[in-house]
Amino acid sequence: MAKLKVASLFCGCGGMDLGLVGGFTYLGKDYKENPFEIVYSVDNDPYCTKIYNANFQHKCIVKDVREINIADIPEFDMLIGGFPCQSFSISAQNPPRLGYKDERGMLFFEMVKILRERQPRFFIAENVKGLLSANNGKAFPMILNEFRAAGYKVIHKLLNAADFGVPQKRERVIMIGFRDEKDLVKYHFPMHVRQNERKVLGDVILEEANQEENLFFSDRAVAGMMAVREKMNKGRVMRLDEPCNTISAHLAKVSLNSTDPVFMVGDRYRRFSAREAARIQSFPDNFAFEMVSQGRQYKAIGNAVPPILMWNIVKPFQDVLKVPALNIKEIKDEFPDEIVSNKFHEDGVESDKNVLISYVKNDTIEMFLDGSINVYYTGKKFPSTVALNKLYYFMPYKKGKGIRDLYLIKIARVGSKHEVHPECDENDFRLVFEVEFVKQLFDDFYMIDLPIWHTFKDTTMKEILSIRNQNQNLI
Ligand SMILES: C[S@@+](CC[C@H](N)C(=O)[O-])C[C@H]1O[C@@H](n2cnc3c(N)ncnc32)[C@H](O)[C@@H]1O
Repeated sequence: MAKLKVASLFCGCGGMDLGLVGGFTYLGKDYKENPFEIVYSVDNDPYCTKIYNANFQHKCIVKDVREINIADIPEFDMLIGGFPCQSFSISAQNPPRLGYKDERGMLFFEMVKILRERQPRFFIAENVKGLLSANNGKAFPMILNEFRAAGYKVIHKLLNAADFGVPQKRERVIMIGFRDEKDLVKYHFPMHVRQNERKVLGDVILEEANQEENLFFSDRAVAGMMAVREKMNKGRVMRLDEPCNTISAHLAKVSLNSTDPVFMVGDRYRRFSAREAARIQSFPDNFAFEMVSQGRQYKAIGNAVPPILMWNIVKPFQDVLKVPALNIKEIKDEFPDEIVSNKFHEDGVESDKNVLISYVKNDTIEMFLDGSINVYYTGKKFPSTVALNKLYYFMPYKKGKGIRDLYLIKIARVGSKHEVHPECDENDFRLVFEVEFVKQLFDDFYMIDLPIWHTFKDTTMKEILSIRNQNQNLI
């Protein structure tokens, strides 16, 4: 499946981005790669971006999103962002919640601006639970309205990371926008994982952290906490057999006199190490944080979207992106003889004509190369996005190698494999292209970076020629 291109705002150290792209292992379970690739990411914090850049192939830029030149963002299909949430959060009572009137609260407008101008197919926005009640409940509907006015059908749900295999109770509002209703109806928020796949704090505590004396609170701090414990509900000792309470960016300054989660080893209190915090957030152990100070690590980790929560949110996109197959029998009824018949124009390749790129097995391509075949039978499941009446050129895509030669589709029709293989069923209908070699376009097979799946609908020769001109010696 071709990968969708994603632009990521407020990317932080990359929790959300990691979950989106997938391809990592956490507590012995593989979280497979998803059909997304990040093509643009930005955050204005030079420390979390340092962590991001050490862990992702794609490098993010350090910039205030308000200073982005929207036209500079390369082409993308999805915008993601956990817009800064401090001003919406119920833990930010002092100063009181300002919500969308506060400058930081306004940052979600930057997402809206980009959506309005660039109209990607999807967006995913994430925020704290407090967003739902911020500004006496006025901020959230206002935000949804802004997203809708930008041209999106928006669905939202409050999800708890603990329900998806993260050892932490962390509730987040997830908003997903679809430009096209047809995509929306195919998406469903993820189901909770089974009970035996849930994780608890005890699964991620590291024995070696018990040896780190600086993680333990002093006797004085403990005595201070004990004095006010009952009254203030302080000293939140976490149970090992449950998911941890929400950890925050405040982790670096965890004190016993706060509501921050802490942990007990024997009769001593300690805070989590940065690696334990990363594990509580479901970062895999090979995600590196050590290029910045401990304090910066805690901050970036505490701010992150748990990768496994995001992985579960995007997994159902497989259903959204699946391209249903053409009903070839119906096409036969509509076009009993032929779908198109084309003639080659002597004045050269026409750049405005559509080109269809199709996978061809290695043995079949040899027959194309030696001229012993000029008919291409599509597979049974030809995608429904094909613009039948626009079929004009054809380029066989050699598995693992890419494209090279250009053919004209002289005739496209519905036929049956029975024509050439009498042993096959007469009703085994396929699209059939009777093709004619035009020219070798690339000097060797070339692996194009083009969503092949889309070429069934909307790839013109102009795009292929420009890829060829940028990458190959002209022939
Ligand atoms: C909630 S965190 C996002 C965490 C990230 N999604 C993750 O999963 O790791 C919000 C991020 O917004 C960034 N930020 C705040 N104001 C910004 C601005 N004006 N421009 C760019 N980034 C900003 C912060 O540095 C922080 O990393």
